[in-house]
Amino acid sequence: MTMTVDTALRNRLRSQFPALQGNTIFLENAGGSQVPAAVANRIRDYMLESYVQLGAGYELSKRATAVVQEAHDFVRLLMGGHEGEVILGPSTSALLQMLADSYSRVLEPGSEIIVAQTGHEANVGPWVRMERLGMKIRWWKMDPETLTCPLEQLDEILNERTAIVAFPHVSNLLGEIVDIGAITGLAHQVGAKVVADGVAFSPHRAMDVAGWGVDWYAYSTYKVYGPHMGAMWGSAAAVAELTGPNHFFIDDVPYQFELGGVSHEGCAGILGLADYLKVVVEVGPETELSRAEVEQAFEVMTACEQPLIAELIGYLDSRSDVRILGPGHDGTDRVGTVSFVHTSKSSSEITEHVDRSGVAIRHGHMYAYRLCEAAGLDPDDGVVRISLVHYNTLEEIDQLIGVLQDALG
Ligand SMILES: Cc1ncc(COP(=O)(O)O)c(C=O)c1O
Repeated sequence: MTMTVDTALRNRLRSQFPALQGNTIFLENAGGSQVPAAVANRIRDYMLESYVQLGAGYELSKRATAVVQEAHDFVRLLMGGHEGEVILGPSTSALLQMLADSYSRVLEPGSEIIVAQTGHEANVGPWVRMERLGMKIRWWKMDPETLTCPLEQLDEILNERTAIVAFPHVSNLLGEIVDIGAITGLAHQVGAKVVADGVAFSPHRAMDVAGWGVDWYAYSTYKVYGPHMGAMWGSAAAVAELTGPNHFFIDDVPYQFELGGVSHEGCAGILGLADYLKVVVEVGPETELSRAEVEQAFEVMTACEQPLIAELIGYLDSRSDVRILGPGHDGTDRVGTVSFVHTSKSSSEITEHVDRSGVAIRHGHMYAYRLCEAAGLDPDDGVVRISLVHYNTLEEIDQLIGVLQDALG
């Protein structure tokens, strides 16, 4: 990535986010990001101007129906899904549980499900619970030294009974981008479906579900500068094998998988992200956003993040009393989610100190409970996690480093 980011660009992007004008330094973005004004405005306008039920014949209902449809279409563009279906829901956790429940109605007992130990519990628990229905769970174990799940181990446990391989595209603690194409290729060799958790990847890079060849991919819209919802894409072939949980007389997809419908005002908010991406790539508000512009917008975001990651990793790496979990470098195979532990201070002690400074970070297992256990950490104390996105600045990272310097001694 050679794109350079000047202050004018950063300021232009930051000015879109009203929350960034306050005093808090947001470095807990992997928990949830801030929203551009366009997202909040779209929600407000929808609720005040067309807050009616979908599918009726009157004008306002037609407008409301179009908003929900357009949100699905925009998410498809964002995820790079040329065919297949976009299913929206309250959260990634809810969508993945719904997916596992749908599979539980078609998989035969004895089918095997491979679950990566590095996963967030949202893409672990729903599969592990299927053991009660006679499925066999096989763990794709994390190497406690490298903190990665080796491809060779996946290759060893895959077999003709494997139905599903569930794994994170990026761990929400480690920040490393795994080779999703290679994992998918191996799984497909035995006819298994992959369920990739893209929550920790999607705020930083353009998703490309068709290019990767995955079967299922989920992410949380509230971590990608939008409202509190989740989105999941399924390939046409994968969706066709399942029946969603909605009422028996509803057979259209995705509605069949959207029990009780989706948040309509949330859909309006999702469309606000399209407005923001147009600002990022400097095209007019009336232009229809293209896939190339989506990719370009995320390239800008990556370029914004890169020097900040380098600064943060450089500092943490310079300390002999700190162990970075995940890649200890600022290469392009990692995102700006950086976790560490200290040799003598607890993670809670460190964050309590930082909390008093107005810099927002977090400690704990962040629901990657099993990863913490496998890494030999007490999950409750877990790690100190700093998670930056494109709207953060070098000055903010330097301010955090100053506070950490104080906290770590
Ligand atoms: C990697 C990862 N997967 C899944 C989830 C669950 O997402 P949601 O809060 O939308 O259920 C999170 C939330 O933090 C996450 O970080």
